[in-house]
Amino acid sequence: MQTLISPSLLAADFMNLKADIDMVNNSDADWFHLDIMDGVFVPNISYGPPVVEQINKIAKKPLDVHLMIIDPDRYIEVFKKVGADILTVHYEACTHLHRTIQNIHSHGMKAGVSLNPHTPVSVLEDIISDIDLVLLMSVNPGFGGQSFIENTYTKVEKLKALITDKNANVIIEIDGGVNLETGKKLIEAGADALVAGSFVFNAENPTNTIADLKKL
Ligand code: DX5
Ligand code: ZN
Repeated sequence: MQTLISPSLLAADFMNLKADIDMVNNSDADWFHLDIMDGVFVPNISYGPPVVEQINKIAKKPLDVHLMIIDPDRYIEVFKKVGADILTVHYEACTHLHRTIQNIHSHGMKAGVSLNPHTPVSVLEDIISDIDLVLLMSVNPGFGGQSFIENTYTKVEKLKALITDKNANVIIEIDGGVNLETGKKLIEAGADALVAGSFVFNAENPTNTIADLKKL
């Protein structure tokens, strides 16, 4: 399978967001990665459902929504309404993760679970067969442009082994510090999907940069 590329709009130019969305629409990218931060679960506030709703009006690819918020159950229906296709919640933010996953599925979305850098993949053992995607954080969530945490490669390998062992059908997506160098090693370790924010939007030619990531 070819690697899925999900550019993170967090690094886009919000004064010219339409141009950046069109660029992604016309690129080799597969999804739009949308980072929702509440200033509580992570030390930053990004944007919320009204902005996602506007993005969805012109986005021609699935919306891969990453919720970095506490108590995400309160917002599952809202994000469905504004166009989310994949809804990813944090393991660390969910007391009743199984119920949250059921709730996401009942709204017709794919369900993802994200792990912070300190959370071992073994915590997913009893939920892996119920989810569609695991989003491994390769930086501490909250900001774009941080440097990649090297331990992530081992986590990808462990996650891949868990998925194989359980005979599950789960996409391994990586988020934070992804570039051509880290991306290549992540794919070798078993990653299926790469999120890239600053590497894409700060590039001289973002379209070519997405194509380069896609070719890895
Ligand atoms: C970080 C976000 C990421 C971020 C990645 O909290 O979840 O999606 O946009 O940005 P880069 O690719 O610049 O590390
Ligand atoms: Zn993200």
